[in-house]
Amino acid sequence: MSSRRDFLKTLGAAIVTTAGAPLLLNGCVGLATVRAQVDENQIKLNKTEIQALTVPNGILLVKAPQLPGPIILRNLPEVGIVAVSSICSHRGCEVRAMPHSLQCPCHGSEYDELGEVLEGPATRPLKRYEVIETPDLLIIKVS
Ligand code: FES
Repeated sequence: MSSRRDFLKTLGAAIVTTAGAPLLLNGCVGLATVRAQVDENQIKLNKTEIQALTVPNGILLVKAPQLPGPIILRNLPEVGIVAVSSICSHRGCEVRAMPHSLQCPCHGSEYDELGEVLEGPATRPLKRYEVIETPDLLIIKVS
């Protein structure tokens, strides 16, 4: 019997093969990325920096030297913008953002878009960060 994970791996491989280059489904390669700084336990992004989040299910990676790995921002319909750590709760590998999940390449854990465990070996969710939107800024609280 084929699992959802097998299906997604096959789908991703097929797209990479047919396109000849890594695309969105091949992990974080090709995802919009912004570099930022943590200041007073906050990351402040101008709305002009988060254009990738203006579409439903849009994904944006935020990298900052003070963080152990990128933060994955996603614009979820009916939820809003969520911020999830890319550091796997199992043993600390960097998870990959897929269209509707997050997958760890090290031992196969899978998380939903909110960082909740769908499949182990991870047993704990990914770290979530509070997000505050103002008219001009998106603020991520990283404390
Ligand atoms: S480090 Fe992610 S599943 Fe093991």
